[in-house]
Amino acid sequence: MIKAHLLAAIIGAGFLASSVTTFAADGSAILQSQCASCHALTQPEKVTLDHIWERKGPDLYYAGVKFNKPWLVKWLQDPVRIRPSGVFYRTHIKKGEKADVVDESTLIDHMKLTQADAEAAADALMALTGPEGLIETGKFDKDKKASPMAKMLFVKLRGCSACHSTGDGKGGLSGPELQTAGERLQPDFIYSYTKDPQKIDKGVWMPKLAISEQDLQNLTSYIVQLSGKKEAK
Ligand code: HEC
Ligand code: HEC
Repeated sequence: MIKAHLLAAIIGAGFLASSVTTFAADGSAILQSQCASCHALTQPEKVTLDHIWERKGPDLYYAGVKFNKPWLVKWLQDPVRIRPSGVFYRTHIKKGEKADVVDESTLIDHMKLTQADAEAAADALMALTGPEGLIETGKFDKDKKASPMAKMLFVKLRGCSACHSTGDGKGGLSGPELQTAGERLQPDFIYSYTKDPQKIDKGVWMPKLAISEQDLQNLTSYIVQLSGKKEAK
């Protein structure tokens, strides 16, 4: 009898364990079934301007070299708008009295995931690293603080503020906000994107500027510091 009980207990435990695994979220399956309709999860064979115009969400096939995982887990459960005027601003602006304004009614709220699904999806996203050499790793000096010149570079000299907001109510609206970029993005990604936006996102309307190495370091440090987290990642 004792043996039978033991056997039952073992079978019971085994059943429990297998039912737990069936219920644990499968990140890749979530991405395929719930996210692929709006996000490219593999690199499109040929990126044309139509891709930029028609995509419903940002490309995610290089998410693993772009985002900080803790941010992904948090944001997927409680998404806050990153692009004030949508993925493609020209389809979300209308004429205002003085200047064009964002037509908020055309912007959708992002879907929310449960904590378990967000963690599984974030794991699967971090495994998507895109083509080799997409970003330059290790060039950015994480220990160097932004010089007092950095803000000046960002706001005035290099005109980044024309398209990006930095959380003080100022800045343009056609690009992603950068006040949470330090928390959201890997510093190497910020560096590489600032250096050559079209290498990462072909056809994107952020201008490629000739920026000196020192200015690149400064701009990256400045953006990383905006969210008050110097040790992002
Ligand atoms: C109906 C279309 C749609 C679906 C479905 C969708 N997304 Fe999105 N997603 C968007 C849009 C639009 C944005 C841009 C939001 C913003 O900038 O505020 C976005 C942004 C994101 C971002 C930030 C990307 C960046 O470059 O800033 C991540 C990460 C993300 N989505 C993950 C997911 C995951 C994971 C799923 C599936 C569970 C999903 N999305 C489903 C439309 C969608
Ligand atoms: C003409 C508008 C414009 C200007 C000027 C501009 N950007 Fe951008 N920037 C963009 C757009 C558009 C994107 C990405 C669009 C997307 O992912 O939906 C972007 C993306 C970025 C990103 C990646 C952010 C993310 O969430 O993916 C960084 C970092 C960045 N820009 C930094 C800069 C810096 C630094 C400057 C100044 C040297 C600058 N930008 C000037 C339009 C601009």
